[in-house]
Amino acid sequence: MRFLVTGGAGYIGSHLAWALLDRGHDVVIIDDLSTGVGALIPNDATFVHGDCADPKCLRAAYGPEPIDGVFHFAGSVVVPESVSDPIKYYFNNTTKTLELLRFLLDRGTRHFVFSSTAAVYGQPVTDQVTEDTPTEPINPYGRSKLMIEWILRDVAAAQGLHYLALRYFNVAGADPQLRTGQATPEATHLIKVATGAALGARDGLTIFGTDFPTPDGTGVRDYIHVSDLADLHVLAMDDLLAGGTSGVLNCGYGRGFSVREVIDTLKDVSGSDFPVHDGPRRAGDPAALIADPSRTRERFSWSPRHDDLTEIVESALAWEKAWLARTANGA
Ligand code: UFG
Repeated sequence: MRFLVTGGAGYIGSHLAWALLDRGHDVVIIDDLSTGVGALIPNDATFVHGDCADPKCLRAAYGPEPIDGVFHFAGSVVVPESVSDPIKYYFNNTTKTLELLRFLLDRGTRHFVFSSTAAVYGQPVTDQVTEDTPTEPINPYGRSKLMIEWILRDVAAAQGLHYLALRYFNVAGADPQLRTGQATPEATHLIKVATGAALGARDGLTIFGTDFPTPDGTGVRDYIHVSDLADLHVLAMDDLLAGGTSGVLNCGYGRGFSVREVIDTLKDVSGSDFPVHDGPRRAGDPAALIADPSRTRERFSWSPRHDDLTEIVESALAWEKAWLARTANGA
């Protein structure tokens, strides 16, 4: 089969590209490399450098062959930046997805897997969120993605689109073979920052908020290994192509770890006692966000392969070490 992956030079998109190639599919990647990294693109994928909403790039990506399905990762993903620059988020995430949808429906592509986010839930009052938990995003990032979910629902009803919107919880770790990993220089995610600190590439780490209503006062998140998340995308597309119904699905493991627990694990695994400072809360951060993944597990008979915080942190650290060495050598 032949699949289009927008944002395929990014962290999660490049893992999916490898997962598709590993299964013998043809992969076309569109990426403008604004945050994606060219070195993460697999050699066997066809690469179109440009904007996923630009018809010229889309025409180049499609070529004369049909595309069996689209995985749409391209977008802006930093919660605090969405608070300070909301127009960027509504434009890059919401408006550009509309342009992409218009193009692919014109070309007869009807199967679409969308990168949504747990940020659509906002500040949930329950311990674990199901897909039926009310969506009340508390930042423009979450709202920009929720709007797309609504658009997808309407387009599916009107124009025969088959879609699954995957609501990611906190994605971390790296490909066990270290073919790809988190390489965005500006990445602000906890495990990325902490691995950099453990390896001396960053000065240390600030904990954003120690007064949350959580057991140790720091934010609690459901960390999912990126390879498990890539598998879920493959399962989602297979399911749609086999006639599965459209909808939304949580992508998490169903358990949470605090910022302090993540830092302690990383210190154990790395043997580095890097500096950690307590700081104020960050704009737009909820106290806790944990998936109820029952619907996803049942629909795909899915058992995660990497549900282990130590394994996640080890793979992130191994990648960071390899990536720092590659960039030091001019990769
Ligand atoms: N954190 C720190 N210090 C840091 C970085 C993060 O204390 O230097 C804390 C945050 O405050 C939060 C936790 O670590 O409590 C996780 O933060 P991340 O930045 O790693 O991730 P977020 O939870 O902010 O957001 C991520 C994705 C979103 C997604 C969300 C869903 O970036 O796209 O998970 O939970 F919506």
